[in-house]
Amino acid sequence: MYKTHTCGELRAADSDQKVTLAGWVHRLRDHKGVTFIDLRDRFGLVQVVFRLDLPKETLELVAEVRSEWVLQIIGLVQNRPAGMINNKLPTGEIEIIVEELKVLNPSKKLPFVLNDDAKLPEESIRLKYRYLDLRREKMRTNLELRHKTIKFFRDYLDDQDFLEIETPILFKATPEGARDYLVPSRLHPGQFYALPQSPQQLKQLLMVGGIERYFQIARCFRDEDQRGDRQPEFTQLDLEMSFIERKDILDLIEDLFTKMVAKVAPGKRLFKSPWPRLKYEEAMERYGKDNPDIRFGLELVDVTDMAADSGFGVFENAVKAGGEVRAINAKGLGDYTRKQIDELTAFVQDLGAKGLAYIALTKEGEMRSSFAKFLSDERKQALLSRMEAENGDLLLFVADKPSIVFDSLGRLRVLLGDRLGLRDKDVLGFCWVLDFPFVVWNADEKRWDPSHHLFTAPMPDDISILGTDPGKARGMQYDMVLNNYEVGGGSIRIHDRSLQEQVFKLIGLDPEVAQERFGHMLEAFEYGTPPHGGIALGIDRIVMILADEPNIREVIAFPKNQSAKDIMANAPTKVEEQQLKDLHIKLRE
Ligand code: AMO
Ligand code: AMP
Repeated sequence: MYKTHTCGELRAADSDQKVTLAGWVHRLRDHKGVTFIDLRDRFGLVQVVFRLDLPKETLELVAEVRSEWVLQIIGLVQNRPAGMINNKLPTGEIEIIVEELKVLNPSKKLPFVLNDDAKLPEESIRLKYRYLDLRREKMRTNLELRHKTIKFFRDYLDDQDFLEIETPILFKATPEGARDYLVPSRLHPGQFYALPQSPQQLKQLLMVGGIERYFQIARCFRDEDQRGDRQPEFTQLDLEMSFIERKDILDLIEDLFTKMVAKVAPGKRLFKSPWPRLKYEEAMERYGKDNPDIRFGLELVDVTDMAADSGFGVFENAVKAGGEVRAINAKGLGDYTRKQIDELTAFVQDLGAKGLAYIALTKEGEMRSSFAKFLSDERKQALLSRMEAENGDLLLFVADKPSIVFDSLGRLRVLLGDRLGLRDKDVLGFCWVLDFPFVVWNADEKRWDPSHHLFTAPMPDDISILGTDPGKARGMQYDMVLNNYEVGGGSIRIHDRSLQEQVFKLIGLDPEVAQERFGHMLEAFEYGTPPHGGIALGIDRIVMILADEPNIREVIAFPKNQSAKDIMANAPTKVEEQQLKDLHIKLRE
């Protein structure tokens, strides 16, 4: 054994014990020739003291020691002298008086300091030397939190009779709306496996297989543009159940998460319990997005009816063109300067809006506005009243087609929530979003796309309109939302071959192509498939929020950077010509 104790566990009660410790040099101080080292391992820090009465060779060796060297020491635990106790450190009552020192491995000077987060370098340096970055306390606690979260999921689901089952990584395309990562086959020239975008098909086939309750901590692969909450490979808590209804799944997940938060993140509290269940339309109307932050107000207000003949051309034209006008009352921001309002305008313009009309009311009730001059006094008053405006408020309007109005105001609302300090990191605003449209019109490709995925069932009441008015049909889909992030999604599935075929047809999948891609699913549905449904939760996103981190890379040990590269090992990378040959692949220029 390299150590008898960890660096975090010794206390005053251990005084006078002889101990062997091993770890990294976290900090090093020289005080009149006496060397003090904070020795660190995964479990904490402890002060070790090299006194002047040590043998000459030991003192010479200590003089060479630098930050992040790996040391082993033998020494005596002593209470620190009165006045030297460090209350901030769990081991702060004691120190180790060193008797023997062994250098297990020296270290070059690090490319960045690990013991001061204020001095962190840009992320690319951290990612290049991720193995060093992982030594930092915050990274360690993030990975601990991730471990505890996953462990909680496993234990809870095990208690509820779920089976953890691994599904293949080398499989066939399981589409979730992104591009596939493909793996060329050596044994079958010209053919490819696809890495799963999720275990969707396989978990449904497990239900056909009679498993009834399945879960998996599943790695998923999606070739899509990177963002702070997206990685090309990420991890889901994936689960599926037979003989259940939507409500059963929502209740189960709500209970699971409520208990998980209490156990692994006791500093956080739930905004509302039970979690609000919003219809998709309501989420859009109130928050402008289907992944809302429900912890604060500033909700969208529809003023389209007042805009139609308001006298303000911008509004009138938008409504004439079939658009709408909605607004946010940014409470208390009525003293925003022209420059600040221009900034907000630029923000919505980046999202496709043509502008941001405003009415600003000073605390004294004076009005500044980009368009109020076009409105009669009566209409102005009616508008202020609809917006529940008070002195000191700033009203912000967007007129456009609905998708742009919702997107720009929905994001603007979150920005304003941040500025007004309304997004308390210790509060978790879980909610469910339900009753999504079953399909969405893809104007580029001129076809209907599934709004969730191919296997989601339409609402039973809406099956009859799939052929005539599919845009009005709703799906049996549910999204789990937390503080402005979609953290999970699932649905009740189709378990009937003819309905599945009808849906393939609706989304324009040629029957032959459907057979080739999903024939195994269609066939399975003919052999006694139980009604079933499930959900997948984005573990990276959930841990990111629990850890108060701004992106999921902070809770993944070895993430890819924003251009999907591993810059530590340098992947992806070119391969040997022979490997390509073996795989029957010739590169295009
Ligand atoms: P969906 O595609 O909604 O559903 O994914 C479920 C959850 O996974 C997370 N997620 C991601 N996290 C990080 N990086 C990504 N690139 C990424 N993409 C998705 C999100 C999302 O809510 N098979 C269905 C689930 C089901 O129907 O049971 C599915 O994968 O938090
Ligand atoms: P303009 O008529 O372009 O000078 O714009 C007058 C005001 O209306 C400015 O404050 C613009 O930012 C705003 N505006 C222009 N187009 C829109 C729009 N589509 N929605 C909301 N405000 C707009």
